[in-house]
Amino acid sequence: MRQKLIAGNWKMNGLKADSQELVAGILSGLRATPVSADILICPPFTLTASVAVAVQGSPICVGVQDVSDAPKSSGAYTGEISAEMAADIGATYAIVGHSERRAMYGESNTVVRAKAENVLKAGLTAIVCVGETLEERESGQALAVVGEQVMHSCPTQTDGTNLVVAYEPVWAIGTGKVPTTADVAEMHASIRARLNDLLGHEAAERVRILYGGSVKPANAAELLSVSDVDGALIGGASLKAADFLAIAETQK
Ligand code: 13P
Repeated sequence: MRQKLIAGNWKMNGLKADSQELVAGILSGLRATPVSADILICPPFTLTASVAVAVQGSPICVGVQDVSDAPKSSGAYTGEISAEMAADIGATYAIVGHSERRAMYGESNTVVRAKAENVLKAGLTAIVCVGETLEERESGQALAVVGEQVMHSCPTQTDGTNLVVAYEPVWAIGTGKVPTTADVAEMHASIRARLNDLLGHEAAERVRILYGGSVKPANAAELLSVSDVDGALIGGASLKAADFLAIAETQK
């Protein structure tokens, strides 16, 4: 039985004061109404350490939104942050290969896999993002494109416990559009089948597959009840404590 994971990706949002307020709101909400799911917050790098301190002793985990693909965990890589550095300040998860990084910063499957391998080497859990564009969906390529991403971006040195795959259709991110539950179920089953090819059955069964893209309090319960949906990766709605809590509270 895979434990559900409710994860907030703050993207490039948050300054010191408002982030402390947001975290305090989430903490007090979870104290009042505990949930059964794992809860993860991924603030920008600048806030990782302070958020990690703020959530100490609570059930909330902290992650980063990216790590370096450099072959070493320290050295002459100006501007880069290694997975080891993220671990050092309290992160236990790292997102890699978000579609915004693939599209805007040209990250290939090879780069994403190098990042994911660095994440695992540093002892963190990797959240590898995959997802098709609208054009790819409309031309019937969605399953093939996402299958390729899974096969070529996921690390293979894992028993499945430290790997999470996030299916985020690019056209659903920040748009208010969501796929039908049938489409989500089909895609998640297909991702599980590709993981089976890549990692073998036992490991593939342990990998959590999240859905992301316009998850809101109004659609969370339905999306999270779809078979093979093991949690959610939430952008916009994770920036409001009430919305993030309402999504988490669908998992009592
Ligand atoms: P939204 O929830 O804002 O659509 O963003 C999803 C996402 O990209 C999370 O990584």
